[in-house]
Amino acid sequence: MSMRILGIESSCDETAAAVVADGREILSSVVASQIDVHRKYGGVVPELASREHLRQIVPVVREAIAQAGMQLAEVDAIGVTQGPGLVGALLVGITYGKTLATAMGKPLVAVNHLEGHVHAVFLEAHKAGRSPRLPAVCLIVSGGHTVLYEVKPHDDAAGNGRGLFLYRKIGQTRDDAAGEAYDKVAKLLGLGYPGGPILDKLAAAADGAPAPVKFGPTKTRGNPLDFSFSGLKTAVLYHVREHAGYGPEIRLREEALARGERKFEQLLSLCGPKTLGLVRQFQNAVVRDLVERTMAAAEELQAESVLVSGGVAANSQLRATFEERGKKAGFEIYFPSRALSTDNAAMIAAAAYPRLRAGILADARLNADTSLSLT
Ligand code: KG4
Ligand code: ZN
Repeated sequence: MSMRILGIESSCDETAAAVVADGREILSSVVASQIDVHRKYGGVVPELASREHLRQIVPVVREAIAQAGMQLAEVDAIGVTQGPGLVGALLVGITYGKTLATAMGKPLVAVNHLEGHVHAVFLEAHKAGRSPRLPAVCLIVSGGHTVLYEVKPHDDAAGNGRGLFLYRKIGQTRDDAAGEAYDKVAKLLGLGYPGGPILDKLAAAADGAPAPVKFGPTKTRGNPLDFSFSGLKTAVLYHVREHAGYGPEIRLREEALARGERKFEQLLSLCGPKTLGLVRQFQNAVVRDLVERTMAAAEELQAESVLVSGGVAANSQLRATFEERGKKAGFEIYFPSRALSTDNAAMIAAAAYPRLRAGILADARLNADTSLSLT
């Protein structure tokens, strides 16, 4: 009999529930995004996030159970994100998960959101009948995190992805996360929120646009595997301020956004070659930094594979550059699909599975841990 775990995720601005069998097979995955709620503020507003989670949690869980073709009582265990994340947001999922587990007498498993992102990669690989070999270097790159881990099997179960993993943090951002830099740069260019998807498409449309500026590699003192993105964001800001020509376009785009015209084609028609060139240079700099440091870590640690997960892992240039570098350097590169890259609950259910099997259970005392660490 397979073990069907209901995963619940509410750490940031997505309310998500999913059912995953044996940590591998996704029976359902439902994600209610709050982007429309937070858009006009240009970022996630914690109080609004909690309120939306409260509104969404029950229907989202019901939908996940229905899509899996099951009854709630048939779930074998419940996995819920304990942290890191926003306290009010986390508490909604935790409280609901605890209540369900207690009422139904099912085991409760606490999951680290970051470990969920690692498992998203394994879920996707399993779909294709592959299994990343360990030790691996894993880059988790999202709106809240930019961090590099070494991932090893916890036991000697040959690291086939079914066991528990051991993590060692080997690098992290000193300031902004990469996704945060995308969001801030999009905001200052009048391109709306979230910034990643629109900048990704505009950068692709910029092919051939002349570069109005070039951003050099970021230097960080100390750990060479640490990242930094706030300097790049500031460099974009100064460039825009110091060069006439950007301002009128930005105002036009802000007006278009205020009218609800935020489709790619609508915004593209309001971007001159200079803006497209600037977006491309910004993305070149982010991608170069992420890829260079991750590949350096993989070489240094003689990793067997490289895993990339989190919202920014959906970026097309990042994916293409990793593939190309991986081929050259002889590393297998693994990404989740775009849907599994951003926050979802299938990854939480998958991460709960080895914990459940190992008997690492939570109880009614489970509380949110906003800065829960993976190491
Ligand atoms: O993992 P995620 O859904 O939530 C967090 O845990 O943060 O990631 C959201 C972040 C946002 O900053 C968004 O701008 C970025 O991922 N993002 C992208 C792309 N799609 C989403 N960044 C670059 N390129 C993309 N295609
Ligand atoms: Zn995340």
